[in-house]
Amino acid sequence: MRNNRLGNTELNISELGFGCGAVGGLMVLGEHKEMFDAIEYAIDSGVNYFDTARVYGDGLSEIHTGAILRELRRTDLIVGTKVRVSGSEFEDISNTVSDQIDNSLRRLGLDTIDIVYTHNRIGSERNVSSGTFSLEDLSPVVEVFEAAVKAGKIKYWGFNGLGETGAIKESLNRYSPSAIHTCYNLLNPTSGYDLPPSFSYQNFEQLMNVASDKGIGTVGIRILAGGALSGSVERHPIAQQNVDPISTSNTFQEDVNRTSDFQFLITEGFVENFVEASVRFAISNNNLDTSLIGLSNFDQLKQAIQYVNRGPLSQEAIDKISDTWTSK
Ligand SMILES: NC(=O)c1ccc[n+]([C@@H]2O[C@H](COP(=O)([O-])OP(=O)(O)OC[C@H]3O[C@@H](n4cnc5c(N)ncnc54)[C@H](OP(=O)(O)O)[C@@H]3O)[C@@H](O)[C@H]2O)c1
Repeated sequence: MRNNRLGNTELNISELGFGCGAVGGLMVLGEHKEMFDAIEYAIDSGVNYFDTARVYGDGLSEIHTGAILRELRRTDLIVGTKVRVSGSEFEDISNTVSDQIDNSLRRLGLDTIDIVYTHNRIGSERNVSSGTFSLEDLSPVVEVFEAAVKAGKIKYWGFNGLGETGAIKESLNRYSPSAIHTCYNLLNPTSGYDLPPSFSYQNFEQLMNVASDKGIGTVGIRILAGGALSGSVERHPIAQQNVDPISTSNTFQEDVNRTSDFQFLITEGFVENFVEASVRFAISNNNLDTSLIGLSNFDQLKQAIQYVNRGPLSQEAIDKISDTWTSK
């Protein structure tokens, strides 16, 4: 497993990151033994980044992740979490964010969190109902983040690279976060590739490349399109049963249907299955510092690690994948 420097930070992050989110559900609703075995196996395999958030299971993901890392006596790993402001909290962003950092520290059982991101989307205007931050809303957030760095509560801070492409890019110029989360997968690769305006889904206009050029760390999310890129609509029993696509089709079913575009990767022998194709596609991009995978069970983690260890996809495979985006 390769490690990459996360942007200009001092964090050396594994190319595969452990997603502790509710879509997969393992770190929210999993049995303790399965969570423990998965985390231990991940660490033994070279995974050193654990990505959680306050809202995953209403605090449960942070509690479980923190408890298992303590049980394993591992303090040399990288933990990231997120703050999310909603509803009336928009009236007092500073205190909300400050309290949420303190509460995350408590739930994780840590003295310092390596990186805290905003979970809210970014837009040109505030939208309370969709939980969207305007560029101005980010100003008090950044002030609180900087104060938390000074107080030793967090080491670095970052943004969620979801929302309106122009506003996200402007937020990077204005505030220089240490890292961003960016949606990147076979269905919507626009964070890493220049595709024409006619491309079917939201165009992130090479957000990942822009961030990387600025020394901003890049964390890939939704590399399996929330599970649709497994090629099956079936959800694991502890996984979130209804998954809203992020920046791909309107429905999960449509995303699943689109996997047939990549069937050639299997029939021509580039990969065994769509999950391998998706994971190896993500790690093939040198501008992506880490790729998160959401997990429902230990087996899915083992598979992801096995695929990462097969390395990036061949250039021939990447070229053929690129043809599918432009032929649509
Ligand atoms: N900043 C943000 O707003 C944001 C948004 C989304 C995600 N994230 C982060 O990114 C992480 C990953 O994202 P995600 O969970 O949304 O999506 P994802 O990684 O694209 O998809 C996860 C789903 O893929 C399926 N899967 C995983 N391994 C598999 C395997 N080997 N075989 C078959 N299916 C497999 C599982 O679904 P089934 O088993 O049910 O099929 C799982 O629920 C999250 O945990 C979170 O840390 C951040």
